[in-house]
Parts: sequence; C-alpha cells; structure tokens
Amino acid sequence: MKAFEIRQSFLDFFKNKAHTIVPSASVAPMDDPTLLFTNAGMNQFKNIFVGLEEPRSRRVADTQKCIRVSGKHNDLEDVGFDTYHHTFFEMLGNWSFGDYYKKEAIEFAWELLTEIWKLPKDRLFVTVYRTDDEAADLWAKVTDISPERILRFDEKDNFWEMGETGPCGPCSEIHFDTGDLATQADTFKHPVDGVNGENARFIELWNLVFIQYNREKDGSLTPLKEKHVDTGMGFERVVAVLQNKNSNYDTDIFMPLIDRIAQLTGVPYSENGMAHRVIADHIRTLTFSIGDGVLPSNDGRGYVMRRLLRRAARFGRNLGMHEPFIYKIVDILVETMGEVFPEIVEKAEYIARVIKAEEESFNHTLDRGLDIFQKIQEKLAEDKSTEISGEDAFKLYDTYGFPLDLTELMARENNLTVDVAGFNAAMEAQRERARQAGKFTIAIEQDPEEWNALSGGEHSRFIGYNSLSAETQIRKVRQVNGTVYFTMAETPFYAESGGQIGDHGIIEGDGYKVDVTDTIKIGSHIVHVGSLQGTLTDNPAVTAQVDRVRRMATARNHTATHLLHKALRQILGNHVSQAGSLVDPERLRFDVTHFQKIELAQLEEVEHIVNEQIRNNLTVESFETSFDNARKMGAMAIFSEKYGDIVRAIKIGDFSLELCGGTHLSTTGEAGMLRVVSEGSAAAGIRRIEAVTGLGTENYMQAERRLDEMLRHLLQCQSSEIESRLVELLEQKKKLEHQISELRQQASQGELKQLASAAKDVSGIKYVAEKVNAGNVDELKSMSDALRDSLRSGVGVLAANINDKVSIVCIVTEDLIKDKNIRAGHLIKEIAALVGGSGGGRPHMALAGGKDVGKIATALAAVPEIINKSLN
Ligand code: ALA
Repeated sequence: MKAFEIRQSFLDFFKNKAHTIVPSASVAPMDDPTLLFTNAGMNQFKNIFVGLEEPRSRRVADTQKCIRVSGKHNDLEDVGFDTYHHTFFEMLGNWSFGDYYKKEAIEFAWELLTEIWKLPKDRLFVTVYRTDDEAADLWAKVTDISPERILRFDEKDNFWEMGETGPCGPCSEIHFDTGDLATQADTFKHPVDGVNGENARFIELWNLVFIQYNREKDGSLTPLKEKHVDTGMGFERVVAVLQNKNSNYDTDIFMPLIDRIAQLTGVPYSENGMAHRVIADHIRTLTFSIGDGVLPSNDGRGYVMRRLLRRAARFGRNLGMHEPFIYKIVDILVETMGEVFPEIVEKAEYIARVIKAEEESFNHTLDRGLDIFQKIQEKLAEDKSTEISGEDAFKLYDTYGFPLDLTELMARENNLTVDVAGFNAAMEAQRERARQAGKFTIAIEQDPEEWNALSGGEHSRFIGYNSLSAETQIRKVRQVNGTVYFTMAETPFYAESGGQIGDHGIIEGDGYKVDVTDTIKIGSHIVHVGSLQGTLTDNPAVTAQVDRVRRMATARNHTATHLLHKALRQILGNHVSQAGSLVDPERLRFDVTHFQKIELAQLEEVEHIVNEQIRNNLTVESFETSFDNARKMGAMAIFSEKYGDIVRAIKIGDFSLELCGGTHLSTTGEAGMLRVVSEGSAAAGIRRIEAVTGLGTENYMQAERRLDEMLRHLLQCQSSEIESRLVELLEQKKKLEHQISELRQQASQGELKQLASAAKDVSGIKYVAEKVNAGNVDELKSMSDALRDSLRSGVGVLAANINDKVSIVCIVTEDLIKDKNIRAGHLIKEIAALVGGSGGGRPHMALAGGKDVGKIATALAAVPEIINKSLN
C-alpha cells in the first residue's frame, strides 16, 4: 500500500465506525499559550476533555500535523541519528468524547491492525499501565493476542500527559517487533527488555490514552467529569511497517525528498545517510510551519524554525552545498502531500522564498563559523579538553548565528560537550550590556556626578496617557553646551519607544523656560531634552505642557497604524506581521513581512477597510492584562514579552487588539482619513508602507487638487478628460516626430546623391566619409542605406552629432565584402577609437558611438587610410 492509501484506509476505517473525520489543526496553536507547537492529535480537543467546550460530534478521527521540538515532547536530538523520530510527523488518531471507552478503543485498534492491515499477531506487543487491570483483562478478553504479549509498565511509559498541565491518563501502547534486524535479533532475551527500550527493533506504533484527569498547575490530578479516549498512531512508522521497511526514511513518504536531496547535492543517500535524513525531516517541519504562519525569526516559535533551518543548512555543507538549495525541496513536498494538506499548495511559492531568504542569510556566516569551530576543536585537542567553553559557544551564537543546539550537535559528532551553563551566563551578560547601553552616552546611573539633583524621590512616573500637563518637579538635570537634559517627578511627556517618537512641549520654571524637542528613555528614566531660555535655579518646581497638536497628530497615526496592521492581515493573509514601525506627527511608516509587491488594488482595499473603521468611530480602549491572557485573546504584535509579564493592550472596537505602550486616540473617527502615500521594498521579504492621516491627508489631498487644477489649466479640459487628453497629445507627438524624421530624410536624399557622386577613391575603392545632420541613430542608419544604393560599390561612413555625442554608421557594399574582404565591423572599430568610443556590427553595416564631438573631422579624414590598411 502507498502511504496515501494507508492514511485513507485509517480514516475510512473510523468513518465506518461512526466517527466524524475532521481536518488537522494548525501546527501552531494560537489559542493555547501552554504549547509552542501542536504535539499531539488531542491538542485541538483539549477544551472538550476538560469540559469547557461541548463536542460537535462524540466520535472523531483525523490525521494531525505535529511538531515535537520543545517542551515535554521533544524529539529533535534523535532526528537523523535514528530512523524513526521526526521533528514533524503525522499523528493518526481517533477520539471518543465521553462515548466509548477502553473496550472499544482496544477492539478498534486490534481490528484495524490485524484484520484490515493484517499485521502478524506474533509480532505485536501491547503495554498497559502498571495498575490498569481493566485494560490488561480487556486485551486478553476482547482480542486474540496471546497473554504473554501483554506487558505492564509504569508512569514513564504508560501514563500519558500533554504537557506540564492538561488532560492526561493511563495509556496502552501497541508495539511492533520488526524482528528481522539481524544484528539485533538476539539482543533481547525477553521482549520486556526491548519494548520501550528506545531501539529500532521494537517500534511503538499506537498509543491509546484513557483520559480521566486534568493535571493542574500545582501538579495535582483532578478527575474529569467524563471519561474519554485519545489515540495517536505514528503515521510514518506504520507506513514503514506496512511497506516492510526498516527505516521510516525508506518509505514513499520520505524517498521522494531524499531523492531530490541526492539529486541537488550529487551525493547519493547511501553515502551520507544522516545529512539526507536531517534535511528531509527539517524541510517538512519548516514547510508546514511556514504554511501555518510561523516564519523563522529571533524568538519564540520562529526561533525554533530558524534553528532547524540552520541545522539543515549545516548538514547541507556536509554534502558540499554552499548555495541555497533546501528551498528547492519544497515542491516535492507539495507534490506528495498537497492533496491532504492544501495549505502548503496555496503558499508553496511563499514558503520556498522564505526558506531561500533564510538560507541566504545564514550562508553569509556559516563558513566563518565552521572555521571558528574547527579552531576551537584544535585548541581543545591541544589542551586535552573535551568541553567547549560557554564563551566559545556564545561567540558562535552571537557572531556567526549558530544556535546552541547546532553547536551541541557538532560537539556531539566530535565527541565533545558544551558548557551550557557558561553559554547561558555569557548570554545573560550580553543582555545586561545591552540594557546598559542607552540611546546616547549620558547614562544617568553611570556618571551620576554629571547630573545635578534638584530634588529627590520617585522619578519619571508617566502620567501622559490621561493628561498632557502637570505641575511637577525637576529631579536631575544636566547641561551640555546649549542643550539641557532633565528628569522630573512625574511627566506627561511620552518617551520614544515602540516606534512612536518622543513628545515635544514646554517646561516652565522659576524664571526659565525649556523648549523640549525630544523625550527619550534611559533605563528607568524619562529624559527630556531641550534648549534653555533663562537660567536654571535651585527651585525644582515646574509646569510641564506637552505640545498638544503634535501629540494628537502622532496619536492619529498610531491608532491608524493598528488599523492598518489588521487590515493588511485581512487582505494579504496571516503571514503578515509587523517588522518595524515609525509613528510621528507627519506620517506613519509600517514594515510588514510579505514577499510580493502589494498591488494597487490590494492597497486600495486595505485603505478602504481602515477608513471604514475610522468612519465607524470605534472606541479605542487600553487595558492591562497578563501576557498569557493577551495571547489567549489573540492580541497582535507580541514581541519581547514573556509569560508572566503584565502587558498593555490597545483594543479598537472588536476590530483590532494589539500589545502597545503608545498613546492613542479615544475614538477612531478622530483620525479623519487615512491615505497610503507609498508602498515599496524595505528589505528581502519586507514591504514598507507610508501613510498619512488627519491634517496630513488634508495636505496630501490639497496637493493633489492643485495638481489636478494645473493639469486642467494646461490641457484646457475637465478632470475626467485629462487622461484622454494626455494620450492624445502623446500620440500627436509621436506622429510629429515621425513626420519630421521623414522630412529630414527626404531632404537628405538629394544631399546623399550628391555625396555619392562626389565619392573619392582610395586604392580603387570608392568611399564617402562625411558629417551629416540626423535626429537619431535610426535616421543615420536609413541615410546610410540610401547612400549604399547610390554608391552601388563602395564604403560609406556617415557621422552625426546627436545630443552632443558622436554617432557613426559605416556601410560596405556586398561586392567589396566578397572580393576585397572589407568589413564594416572592422573599419568602425578603428574609426570609433578616434572619437573616444567603441563600435561594432556586421560586415555590411556597423555602428559606433563616441564622446569627442570635436574629433569627428579627424576621424572622417582617417577613413581612406583605414580602408587602405584593411586591404592589406
Ligand atoms: N495523545 C497521545 C499521544 O500523543 C495519543 O501519544
């Protein structure tokens, strides 16, 4: 059976047992903050198990895309080393939500394996949880497995849990004894030694979990109201067994990928199995993950993908590949799996581009990094040490982009280890340095003596979300040349962050005034920067007033940025995420991850959605919540926040929810109207949009009206006629040019005849070498054609000054080419050299261009000599 048929026969089997077949969920569960990636078929049903959601159907089956690279279920370290672990795999599963229980689950499994798929019963073993007599008895009673093949194991193997928390229960697994691995055949005296022994002979095929509990945060187990069945079968493994293969990679799931890798690299699978296996595994994970919207990046899920890609690229080096090639495997996957998972067909091109861009960027540092690794290795050998220091691992990470696990993997290949604690310490030290480095060098804590304390106590309390003025006190101040820097007890001034620029305004004190022209953050301090009028005194009391007009204009652009972000996702798709943002009073600039140009029609749709939400005058609210909750609510723009953080969210009606610390409008209507003014590329895979709102839009529209006015005036027509008027004018221009050119040619006909009749002679060859008037090279060419006709036999060289450059055409008549071997292409090279240019062409006609208009006469005078030379 082909893999495709095996998958289908599983689904059909359960369909016949009254199960509803459902689609696979995304590999990235957006609504479950406890999970980085979907790691089991049951993830999408978690809420049903714990009683939070009613099932639509009590019996369900599917094939689920799973990724196991983190958390409780992590298979990354085994991938490539063995033949049956994968970072991405399909889990075939059937579920009962409070419907059937252990008996039917066991009966179904046995029937499918032994009757439909006809697996030999004397190759199967089943395991049950240590105390689960019920399951053990059922296996003996409702199936014909022989009793000594029912084995008992403890929690580690036979109590399944989703993660640190969540639904769980005792389980019963079915293992297959591949037996025929000759080398291992006698290793195990008793199956108990082999089953669950992490070896390639006894393979766990199917896990039947009897879900009864929920694991709580404090570690305790709460019994669930109902009992459920959750099963999971490793699709790639069962295919290997049914196709009689010793390795999952030898099945028709992986072979097309491996063949492509062998073809691209020129290295047969038999020569370097591990690299082929790792790349084949990782390309699946990358493709499905990008297909579900998780792109390689620097944190969270995205960093997992970046790590995988970098590992794959490193194995590509082992196969001699220095140019991106992994992306070229995507289409094979699309061919073999696209029918079952159409999302990768839809996004095939995008997926390949993302992977290619990642490969390109890592290739820049990979070779250098490999050199450094080599040096580290040599040094260790000299020092008779086997541990790579944390600092070295960090250097590889920080400078050469080697994820820690890649360094660990390479260490493992060379029988070395890595000081992971040292690596983490180096990482932490760097974070600390980054925290210390402020936007400019006047760090307050670092050189306190430079700062003059006018008063003491709490500082930099931001009150600017709700008010734009304050009676407050200056805390610390510093003067550098004409510029004054100071902090205050509380401040309504917003300090630049999150893409929003800092506030401007006025601070008035005892006999002085500061015109604040920037507000920035240094550590925990909000520092106001401005120019001082008057003299500072010891009296710290001041009145602070933010420039309201500027602040409002900025808020318009900021709120509009959120609307724009959401609208872009709606129109372009969920792969779109924020890659950068700048908000100031004049405009907004927003960078998004997207590969193609955003077409005008799409931009207009985006603009329309935003303006509709502005007209809807939605309420803009801000609130604080936990990071986990914000994620659960589906908030956008989650960057550096971590579990447990308290975050500020901006909610715009029911339209948009985004984490943000910036200042916003109260209602969207205040934005007036958004107008996109440009769209372009900001970097590979990143588009940049600039837009205006409020007064900016007004100014933009007035400029457009002035342009319209001017065009109507110049063209003497209505707005609606401008286009047709212009088209008409352009056509007229073309016609006139054509006429002029014809007239000029007519005029030159006579002239050319004259030239031909006045042709001179060199060594018996007639020649003409003259300067003429021509408007362009085409004219010059048709003139020389006419000259050829008049000459009948001879060489013609016509030169013209066209737009202050020299153009020359040389013709040679057919007889001279044949009899005298004179070639226009040869002659023109020498002529061209004399006018500081170059040229070339065929034997009967050649063209040249040059710079030295003043040398035309000299060049023409040299023609007879050049002809003469070519005769010899
Ligand atoms: N949820 C069970 C597993 O992942 C079936 O093994």
